Order: sequence, then structure tokens, then C-alpha cells
Amino acid sequence: MKMTRRTFCAGLAAVPVARLAHAQDTSLLRAQAATAQLAPDGYPATPVWSYNGTIPGPVIRAAQGSRLERRLMNTLEVPTSVHWHGIRIDNAMDGVAGLTQDAVPPGESFDYTFDLPDAGTYWYHAHTSSMEQVARGLSGALIIEEATPPDVDRDEVLMIDDWLLDPDTGLFVDDFAAPMTRSHGGRIGNLVGVNGRHDYRLPARQNERLRLRLINAANARIFGLKLEGLTGWTVALDGMPLGAPEPLVDTLVIAPAQRMDLIVDVTAEDGEAAGLFFAAADDSWRVLAEVSVEGRAASGPRGAPRALPRNPRMEVVGVDAALVLEMPLQGGAMRGLESATFNGQRLSWQELVQQGQFWALAGQAGPGETPLVSLSRGETARIRMTNDTIFPHAMHLHGLHFSVRKEDGSLGPLRDTVLVMAGETTEIAFVADNPGKWLLHCHMLGHAASGMTNWIRVI
Ligand code: C2O
Ligand code: CU
Repeated sequence: MKMTRRTFCAGLAAVPVARLAHAQDTSLLRAQAATAQLAPDGYPATPVWSYNGTIPGPVIRAAQGSRLERRLMNTLEVPTSVHWHGIRIDNAMDGVAGLTQDAVPPGESFDYTFDLPDAGTYWYHAHTSSMEQVARGLSGALIIEEATPPDVDRDEVLMIDDWLLDPDTGLFVDDFAAPMTRSHGGRIGNLVGVNGRHDYRLPARQNERLRLRLINAANARIFGLKLEGLTGWTVALDGMPLGAPEPLVDTLVIAPAQRMDLIVDVTAEDGEAAGLFFAAADDSWRVLAEVSVEGRAASGPRGAPRALPRNPRMEVVGVDAALVLEMPLQGGAMRGLESATFNGQRLSWQELVQQGQFWALAGQAGPGETPLVSLSRGETARIRMTNDTIFPHAMHLHGLHFSVRKEDGSLGPLRDTVLVMAGETTEIAFVADNPGKWLLHCHMLGHAASGMTNWIRVI
């Protein structure tokens, strides 16, 4: 059968399949080849790169204040490394090949061990050729639990992703480095799913209260989400608790690498349609995850949840007096750069394209020998990112959390990844309280590999 993109996407309609049992948590994280039934039944399974054989990798859960130890064992044929996204971490454990460690060669291992000062929803993923390795499946959820969890009936991780598959073979379309997608909006899949399934179903009962931990693990897709049969609040962004739970808005937007913790009550009745829907390219709403409601829980409505406890020592202070750095986001299709610095040399647009570089941050394509800025430990800094391109970018800062500083000087919630729309200027403010070399890059991974990566140093 020859499938068009349309019939392939239509295959998203629910096909009930038993849920995969995920591998148990161990102290070993094996990067290994595996296969996964990403496409609907009847289509070939997909050869993937996985952690411990599953897509996504095992959910790692640990207590706030504890120490995490994982041995990465690389059984792939390519070097790899693991980044613990959103964690305030010892820089040597940050997993950035070429900056904080050497990539781990095939057949070798690396021990990651670090403290977990903060509760929240995080994730881990490959940080060596991530444009390809994450797309092939190397990511998983990392959940750090509060000492006293909120009053919910269940805590569910929903790792949202998309995959670009050839429906005839089941293989990933082998264009991970295609200049076309790298210079445009990035690699967008033709199949979306949750927790490695295109037909993810969450059974629930009416009146149940759920904590949903949404993680966008996609390479480039910004998800617009709508909830049906569920009402509730957003309680945390990028793992960091909001000062007060915020009633859900009509459409939630979650950019690549961002997380959103929701507390929702199941309002749908037995058999009524409920779940998460996403905005498809044709503007229709399609099922992302079905919540299948059967029966009802005894509990009645419970009112607004309490705010989650704040994480320690995270106040962004001294912002008004802080150093302000300009970092324009530049380049991409239709806005070719005149020139930019790459590997220490000033290159013309033509030369940049030959090097696979389509973007620049503050005139610099890719990480240079010297950082964007050196900050002393404890210093507060502001970075103004003006998006001079015609594409949105999900800008991520490693190791440190920032607040968006609004025009009126007020500060938004703590985040580690912020979506900067075309033409927009977004100013982030943060305290450089963790020494080391920290990447600042676009989390549209094709962009990151084509110029949109820089770094800051904290000494
Ligand atoms: Cu989610 Cu540089 O990473
Ligand atoms: Cu980008």
C-alpha cells in the first residue's frame, strides 16, 4: 500500500494496543540499538537508538536532595554522551561532548553522578550529534520528586515527540543533516506520539485528579495543545514551580525541550472523549493522547491545588543593575547572513553554507574558542535576544535557570528554555551561580548544529 502523508497521519486514530512495559530503573543506561513499533500496527517497526531498549528511555525517578548515579554504557557504533536537561548540575556532568567531556566512544562507558538540589520535571538526552541521536530515540524523562508530593491520585509522565518515518520501510527518513530542514523550521515528523506510542492511551476515572508532566522531546516541533474533558491548572514550567497554580488557558504552547506540569481533574464522563489534542499543520486538532474514562472516582471536586514548594536559592536578584548583553538571533532561509565568525574566521554567507552553517548568535556561528561572555560567580546578567530570523527559536541555557524580564522590568517564572518568535525580542535574566562552561543554544536541534550554539563561562 502506498501511503500519502495524509493517510499516514490519519493512522493516528486510536488503535488499542497493550502498553509497553518499560525497562526497570537500574543504575545502567545502555545506549543501544533496538526496534520500536512507532508506526501503527501493520506498518514495519522502526530500528531506533535507545536507552535500555525502549523509546523513550526509562523514566528515571529520584528524590530531591538525593544523588543520581548512572553509568552510560555505549553499545552504539557512534560516540555519544548524556545531557541532563534542566538540572543544576556539576559542570563536568553536563554531558556536552566537546565542551564538558569527550564523547564516549563505542564500547566504552562514562559514570555520571551528581546531586539533585531541585524537584521537578526534567529529561535526559544525547548531547553528541544530538540532531541525529535525539531524533533516533535517545531521550527519556527525569523526574525529581518533592518530599511531599501534591494531592493527586496519579502522577503521569507524557513525553511528547514526533518521528519522521518512511511508512514503507519503517525506517527514519535518513536526512538528519538535510540543509533544507536545518535552514528552515527544523526536522518535523510525520507521526506524533506520546511515550513512544502514536496511540497512547491513559485510562482514567471521572473526578480523578492527575498530575500530568508534559515534556516536548521533539527535534523542532512546537506543540499547540488543547485539553478535552480535563480542567485544571499549570503548576510548573521547565520543572520550576509557579508561585501560584494558573488556571489552564485554551491553548498551551510547548516548545522543544520545554516542560509543563499540569494538575487536572477528569471531568469527562464514562465513555466521553477526553485527552490531549495537538494543532496539526492544516490547523485541525488531532488526538495526541487519549484519556479513556471508565467509571468514576469517589472523590468530589477538590478546589485549586496548592502551589508546589519552591526550589532552594533560585531568586533572580540584582537585575536592574546587571550587565546587559545583546545577542541577536540571525540567519536562516530568506534571511541569509552577510557573514559570521566560524571557527575563528570571518566567513561570507556562501562560505558558511558550505560549512553547513545557516545561523548565528551575535555574529558567531557555532561555539567559538571564547565564550559569549565570562561572568563571575554570583553575578547577575541579562541577555537580550532579538530574533532577526523568520523562524521561532527555543533558546535553552544549560545549568542555570533564568526569568524573562518584561518591558516593565517585572520578571516571569523561572525557565530553562524560552520560545522566541520571529521578530520578537526576549530578555532573560539570571544569576550565574554555578561555575563552568554552559551552552546557550536553540533547541531546534538542526539549528543548534548549524550555528545557533554559543556558550557562557562562569568563574
Ligand atoms: Cu536539552 Cu543542550 O540541551
Ligand atoms: Cu532555532
